Amino acid sequence: MQNLRDSLDGIFREMFGHAPELHCFAPGRVNLIGEHTDYNGGYVLPCAIHMGIQCAAARRSDNLLRFYSANFPEAGVIECRADAPVKGGHWADYAKGVIQAFAQAGYTLECGADLAFQGNLPDGAGLSSSAALEVLTGTVLRELYGFAVTSQQVALLGQTAEHEFIGVNCGIMDQFASAMGRRHHAILLDSGTLSHDYLPIDGDAASIVIINSGVKHSLASSAYNERRRQCEEALAALSAQKKIPALCALTLAEFDDLRSCIPDEICARRARHAVYENARTLRAAQALRAGDLSAFGVCMNDSHMSLRDDYEVSCPELDFLAETAWGLDGVYGARMTGGGFGGCTVNLVRRDAAEAFVVAMKARYRQFCGREAEAYVVEISDGAGRI
Ligand code: GLA
Repeated sequence: MQNLRDSLDGIFREMFGHAPELHCFAPGRVNLIGEHTDYNGGYVLPCAIHMGIQCAAARRSDNLLRFYSANFPEAGVIECRADAPVKGGHWADYAKGVIQAFAQAGYTLECGADLAFQGNLPDGAGLSSSAALEVLTGTVLRELYGFAVTSQQVALLGQTAEHEFIGVNCGIMDQFASAMGRRHHAILLDSGTLSHDYLPIDGDAASIVIINSGVKHSLASSAYNERRRQCEEALAALSAQKKIPALCALTLAEFDDLRSCIPDEICARRARHAVYENARTLRAAQALRAGDLSAFGVCMNDSHMSLRDDYEVSCPELDFLAETAWGLDGVYGARMTGGGFGGCTVNLVRRDAAEAFVVAMKARYRQFCGREAEAYVVEISDGAGRI
């Protein structure tokens, strides 16, 4: 963290010719279970991870905003007016979207700023680099201009940016995890009410290992919005029979009873995933509380199969990584994590087996598709803040 901070300090001075006033960090996230439930009123169980994005920032005396990212040097320094951020089709749109969301909520910038970013989250890998950038921008705005916003509000304003500026109709999980994470804990979040609980993860018993397939799906955001529409269609059909606020309000038995009321078979399968995944997430949380990692792992494996077969957001590479992991020594559970269509798997592995697990997975993946898989052993981190 300190190394990254020093190097970002140097980058800031070089690009903008003066010193930053402050530094902030926002983590990425990995979701342990509860996938595609957060826009269906269900539970999710993510944690913030040690990988993320840093920002060095200073106010200016004029009305100009200048953005630079060491991860996208080819984009150069991007400029816009502090009171009129316009979309530019590049990385800084996530930051601009947050500035617009703050302004709409009444938090207008009294002057411009220089902002330099640098991160170590792989782009497009499903570890929420965009949510981290949004939450980071919100945190920097709070610290730089003294806005009285809570971390939870920062998360919500990040989600607003994603909906209104970027055009992805995402749930709240990613921004919430990045803003509200807690070291050594997973967050059991009820996406319907935002009530949440922190569940300790015993790092001595198990390691959380992320394996990156290296696959990026260019249609991921349109496919995501399509899944969301299909869930809404299923909800509309079910609501004609039973008044429910969201799919995840149904128990498994209620859903099984009502399923035939959903005329479209694809929408019915999407809904089944949401309802079953929600129940699985609560079962997994129960298992975690009881220290039963084997039971937790079974829920993870079932989650993967449901995402593969009912929700259809996996891909051959993710299926290979999950299914291979299921057969390896010391693995409690493995599944794809995040929105899907590429990205990463998350694996819960006995701590003393983690090293051999990584070696085996890399070798098998190379054999499978000739590609190198990166692996990250997660340290669960705190949410965004000043550093
Ligand atoms: C993306 C979205 C989240 C969530 C996941 C799927 O990461 O940003 O809100 O819906 O997909 O669980």
